[in-house]
Amino acid sequence: MSDLVTVILAAGKGTRMKSSLPKVLHRVGGKPMLQHVLDAAKAAGTKRSIVVTGFGGETVREAIGEQAEFVTQEEQLGTGHAVLQTKPLLQDESGTIMVLCGDTPLLTGDLLKKLYGAHVEAGAKATVLTAILPDPAGYGRVIHMEDGSVEKIVEHKDATEEERKVREVNSGIYCFDAKDLFAALGEVGNDNAQGEYYLPDVLEILRKQGKKIWSVAAEDYEETLGINSRLQMAKAEKILRRRKNEELMAEGVTIMDPDSTFIDMDVKIGCDTVIYPFTWLEGDTVIGENCEIGPNVRLQNVTMGNNVMGQFTYAHDAVIDDGVILGQFVHIRPDTHLMEKVKIGNFVEVKNSNVGKGSKLPHLSYIGDCDMGANVNMGCGTITVNYDGKTKFRTKIGDDAFIGCNSNLVAPVTVEDNAYVGAGSTITRTVPADNLAVARAHQKNIAGWADKRK
Ligand code: UD1
Ligand code: CA
Repeated sequence: MSDLVTVILAAGKGTRMKSSLPKVLHRVGGKPMLQHVLDAAKAAGTKRSIVVTGFGGETVREAIGEQAEFVTQEEQLGTGHAVLQTKPLLQDESGTIMVLCGDTPLLTGDLLKKLYGAHVEAGAKATVLTAILPDPAGYGRVIHMEDGSVEKIVEHKDATEEERKVREVNSGIYCFDAKDLFAALGEVGNDNAQGEYYLPDVLEILRKQGKKIWSVAAEDYEETLGINSRLQMAKAEKILRRRKNEELMAEGVTIMDPDSTFIDMDVKIGCDTVIYPFTWLEGDTVIGENCEIGPNVRLQNVTMGNNVMGQFTYAHDAVIDDGVILGQFVHIRPDTHLMEKVKIGNFVEVKNSNVGKGSKLPHLSYIGDCDMGANVNMGCGTITVNYDGKTKFRTKIGDDAFIGCNSNLVAPVTVEDNAYVGAGSTITRTVPADNLAVARAHQKNIAGWADKRK
C-alpha cells in the first residue's frame, strides 16, 4: 500500500461554526477534526498527506506541523479547483491519490482501506465512496451505468427531479489514478448552478475517455458525515465517545456508566480496570491493569501503572506508578512522579516532585519542587515553602524521614534519611540524618492566669 497519497480538502471557512478558529481545528473526541482524518489516512497506508488550506491556513499548519504538506487555495472556487492546487506537489506521483475532506472526523482507517482495496481490485481510474442516505437532499447523487460502474455525479442543485430521487450520494471521498486525475482536472469547467469547479466532474470526463469509474458504498453512512455546525459536532462527539468506550469494554475494561465517561481516542487502558462515572481521560493517558479510576477523575497525559486507585482527582502530565492511592480532592501537577504505593490523601497538591516508594501524604499538604525518598511520612498540613516571590527552590527529604504535622520546610533545604521534624516546626537548615529537629517556640504555662483575667 505504499503508493497511496492523500489530499485533504480544508479550505472552506466553515461559516456555520460561527468561530474564529478554522472548522477543521475544532476538537471532537479530544483532537482536531483534521487530526482524525489524518489518522484514518495513515491507518489506511498513506505515505504522504497534503492538506489544502484557505481560511486560517497558518493556524492549521501550526496545529498539524510535520504530519502533512500544505498548499493554499487563495479563493474557494470549488472542490476541483482545490485539488488542482496540489498539482505542483503531486504531478510526478504515479500511484493512487485519495481525496478526503478535513471535516469528517468519524472516518476510520478500515473504511478507507476498503475504498482503496476496491479501487485497486476493480482496476478503476477513479472510485468514489458512496453512502445511502435516508434523506439525500443537498448531496451530489451517484448515477450508475447498467454494468454497475459510475456514469457521473450530479450535484443536488444541478440535478433533475428524477436524479434527485436517487438516495445513493457522493461522500466526497475518492481514489484516483494520479495521472488521470490531474489530466482530467484541467478539463473541468464551472458552467453549473454554483459556478464552481466540481471535483466529481472528473469522473464523467474519465468515463467518456473509456476509463473505468467505480464506486463502493459505506456500510455505515455515519462514518462519512461532514461537520458543519456545533450541533453536528456534538453529535459526532457522542459517536466517537461511544465507539471508544465500546472498544475498551471489548478489551476487558469495565466502564460503569459509558454516558458519563469521556475517554479520548488515543488513551490506553489495561484489562480489569474499572472506570467509575464522571471521569475524563485525555490526551496521551495510559492506564495499567486492575486500576479503579473515578468517580470524578480527570487525567491528562498521565502514565499510570497497575492497581492504582484514584477518586476525585485531577492529574496532568504526571507519572503514577503501581499501587498508588489518590484521593479525594487531589491535584497532581506536571512533572510529578509518584512511585510505587505512594498514598496521597485528602486535599493534597503535588507539583514538579518525585515522591519515593511507599511515602505517605495523607492530608492537607502542598508539596512543590521536592525530591522525597521512600517511606517518608508527611504529617497533616505539611508544606514545602518553595517560592520566595522571585525564585523557586527545591526541598530534599531522605528515606524514612518523618515530618510532623503542620511543618514548613523552607527551601532550599534538606531533611536527611531517618530524620524527624517536630510538629509545627519551620525548618530552614539541614536536618542531619537520625536527628530530631524542633523549630518552634517553647510552651510556657502561666498558672492561675485564667482566674486573674476574670
Ligand atoms: C461536495 C460534493 C458532493 C458531495 C458532498 C459530500 C462537489 C462539487 N460536491 O459537496 O457531491 O455529496 O461534498 O459532503 O464536490 N473545499 C475546498 N475548497 C473549495 C470548496 C470546498 O477546500 O473551493 C472543501 C471544503 O472545505 C470541504 C470540502 O471541500 O471540506 C467539500 O466542500 P463542500 O462545499 O462542503 O462540498 P459540498 O458542496 O457539500
Ligand atoms: Ca459547495
